[in-house]
Parts: sequence; structure tokens; C-alpha cells
Amino acid sequence: MSAEVIAVNGGKWGDEGKGKIVDHFAQSADVVIRAQGGDNAGHTIKNGTGKFVLHQVPSGIFNPDCLNIIGTGTVFNPVSFINEIADLQEKGVDVSNIRISNRAALVLPVHIIEDKLREGQRENGGIGTTNRGIGPAYTDRTSRDGLSVADINDLDTFMGKLKPLLKRKRDSYPGADNPQLHTDYYEDLRGQWFLELEEYITDSQALINKYLSHDSKIVIEGAQGTLLDKDYGTLPYVTSSSTTIGGLLQGAGIPPSALTQAIGVFKAYDSRVGNGGFPTELKGEEGDRLRELGHEYGATTNRPRRVGWFDGVAALYSSQLNGYTDIALTRLDTLSEFGKAQINYGYQLDGEQTDIFPANDNDALEKCIPCNISKFKMEDISWVRKFKDLPLEAQFYCNRISQITDTRISLIGIGEGREDLIII
Ligand code: GDP
Ligand code: IMO
Ligand code: MG
Repeated sequence: MSAEVIAVNGGKWGDEGKGKIVDHFAQSADVVIRAQGGDNAGHTIKNGTGKFVLHQVPSGIFNPDCLNIIGTGTVFNPVSFINEIADLQEKGVDVSNIRISNRAALVLPVHIIEDKLREGQRENGGIGTTNRGIGPAYTDRTSRDGLSVADINDLDTFMGKLKPLLKRKRDSYPGADNPQLHTDYYEDLRGQWFLELEEYITDSQALINKYLSHDSKIVIEGAQGTLLDKDYGTLPYVTSSSTTIGGLLQGAGIPPSALTQAIGVFKAYDSRVGNGGFPTELKGEEGDRLRELGHEYGATTNRPRRVGWFDGVAALYSSQLNGYTDIALTRLDTLSEFGKAQINYGYQLDGEQTDIFPANDNDALEKCIPCNISKFKMEDISWVRKFKDLPLEAQFYCNRISQITDTRISLIGIGEGREDLIII
């Protein structure tokens, strides 16, 4: 017996529609594991009961028979998690099938102060982080000074680790007056977290190993997107975790040999929140129109998302890095409403043509001008439910994306709702 393991990540800069795609697979899954990131994510799911934006809760929550694990590779924020589940419960969602890895790193209120402070110190408007303390929490995990979720369970352990951590921060930051930099702030808070979270915290690895040894279906949910990866993304304008399929396996605690499907979610056009190069960005009136048609405002921060044409060079980079078996292409309906589409197969950089994505050089990325472009006329698809019924140019468009990435498209999003999917 062997488990079916499907990993789903974002192909570009996040907000590709991962929530919707994970929800689709979760309908028949035994477990969904959120692999990395924290409450910087905003995963939208629209189903029969309403529209929900999930931040830390995995996107399998709407299947009551599916276990939802907040994985070891995540940075877990107790404050926002408690609010998130209260909100879900108020809307009638059963949250009893959530588990939190005892090994996950803890986001503390001090990390949020630090995130804002660091952003303020950065030049040129900073990275444009979500201010959720993600970078500082991962930094403390990597430097081995941070706390883990398991530490919530015992006051002495918690305080024993917190004391030197806060002292180090007070010594190195000019924010020492903030109560969040002092241990007193955390005593009652830790007790409250323990009471609220005890039932969810578990050795998730032991659980996952059981699922792996049975004939079960496991979905790994990524957050952010490949181009925001801390090593392979558009540095320094990235998040602080590993967002690739390889990173997801590590974060979820699943051995690479167990993987059966690697699904990249791509939006039919591109979008980016926060700063950093975006060669195919559509500015001016056209960009505004696409943003409004797609309601492209951040699900977590409500910031307007920058939008642009589907970048073929970036898509190739991403698909090669992730080794996708399948692509889920979302929002084809939005592009159809927009009426046209465009894909570039190269960039002009310093007078030379290239098809290499300069991920580790933002200055170069800012200079890249899309070239070798195909244009497509997009017609109404509101009545379409099957690939063969799509207008020919829309079919060509999808086939082009498939050719560039050398990956089959097995799902196409044609609306927000759970049923608005063409399954190929
Ligand atoms: P995620 O972070 O990757 O889960 O994506 P977000 O939830 O941040 O943003 C994706 C947005 O697109 C959400 O508002 C989804 O409801 C919406 N969405 C996803 N797929 C489709 C689609 O195929 N068509 C339309 N119209 N909306 C979609
Ligand atoms: P989902 O999972 C889009 C971006 C931020 C910023 C950079 C670093 O919904 O796709 P951070 O707070 O992580 O240190 O910010 O990463 N970012 C996202 N952009 N979707 C997300 O998540 C994002 N999570 C972080 O805007 O540019
Ligand atoms: Mg999102």
C-alpha cells in the first residue's frame, strides 16, 4: 500500500488561486498539510456556504473528513490563529480536525515589531512585507534561538527560552520600550495560548508517518509562490521560506520519494504584491482595468496587486525548478473578460535577447523588457464547461503555456466557485 501525495504550490508571486485548487483536491483527501509560511498567506475559497479567506488554517478545512495539519515548516502565530478559528466557528465551520505541528516555529508579538522596524530601516520603500513577523520568526528558527509550538505547553520552558531571546533583541534594537520586548508581556499570554491550543498541538510527524504507510491521499499546500522563494526567488523581494515543491516536501515532513504529483498553480495573467521587478507589469489604465476585473486586492493586506501579462520566461524558470507534473491555470475567465492576452518568450536585457530569468539580480530584472511576444484575442467563455468548447484562441493560449513549461494543464479555473473548474 502506498499513499498518494499531491503537492500544490504557486508558480509565480503568490495569489495564483492555491486555496481554490487545494480545496478541490481536499474534497477526496485524508489529510492536507500546510507546508511553509504563516499568516502572510491569504487563501480564498468560495463554496456553497460562503467565501472564506484562510491564513494559517489549511484549505482542506471544508471537508470534515479531512485532517488539516499546520506543518513543521510553517511559522505559527497563536494570536492570529485563535482569531482565525473563532471567525470560522462563528460561520459554522467545524475546526476540530485541525492539528498544529509541535515542531513549527512560533511567531511572537515581538517579531511583528521587528518586521515593521526592519522594513522602516530598508531603503527604497523596503520589501513590502505583510508585517506579520514572518522574516524575524524564520530568522530566529535558523539561528536556533527561537521558540517552537511545543514550548507553549510548559511555562518554565517557554520563559527559559524567551528570556535570552528578548534580551538579545533589546540589546540590538532601538525599540526596547515596547512591552512586547519584555517577558512580563508573555506570562498571561502563554497561559491563554496553552488553554486555547492544547487540543490542536501534536507530534504531527508521527501522524503523517501513519498516513504515509496507509493507502491515503495527502495534499501538501504551499503558500506564497516560487518567485518569492528565499533562495530561488527575486531577492531581496521575497519571503523567508522555501516555496518550491522541494521546500514544500521538507516543510510538510514528506520524503521526496513519496511524491506522486507536483502541481503548479499559475494565474492566466501575472500579479505581484509588494516591491521588486515585474517585467510584464501592465501600468496605467490597462493595468487598472485588469486589476478591477480580477478584484486584485491582497487577501491578507488588502493592498492593490500589481498586474501584468503572463511571463513565459518566468514560467519556464518556475516549471524547471519545481519539476511540475501538472499545471492548474486559474482565472481564464478574467482574462476573457479583459478581451486579450499576451505571452513573452524572451527578454531584451542590455541590448541582448535572453530566455534566462535573472531571479537573483533585481536590478537586471527591472531592466528586462519582454520580447518575442505572442498576442491572443480572448472571447467570452462564460458558457464553457469543457476544454474543447473554449474558443480556439483560448485553447491556443493554454497550449502555449503548456508548451513553454513542458507541463500538461490538467485544471483550468473559469470562476471563483468550487465548481468553476475545467478538469482535463
Ligand atoms: P492564493 O493565495 O493562491 O490562494 O490566491 P488568493 O486567494 O490570494 O487569490 C486568488 C483570487 O482569485 C481569489 O479571490 C480567488 O477566489 C480567485 N480565483 C481563484 N481561481 C479563480 C478563477 O479561476 N476565476 C476567478 N474569477 N477567480 C478565481
Ligand atoms: P499567498 O499564500 C502574495 C509577499 C509580500 C512581500 C514579500 C515578503 O496568499 O499567495 P513577508 O510578509 O512574507 O515577509 O513578505 O512576500 N507575500 C505574498 N504575496 N501572496 C502571498 O501569500 C504572500 N505572502 C507574502 O507582499 O512582497
Ligand atoms: Mg493569497
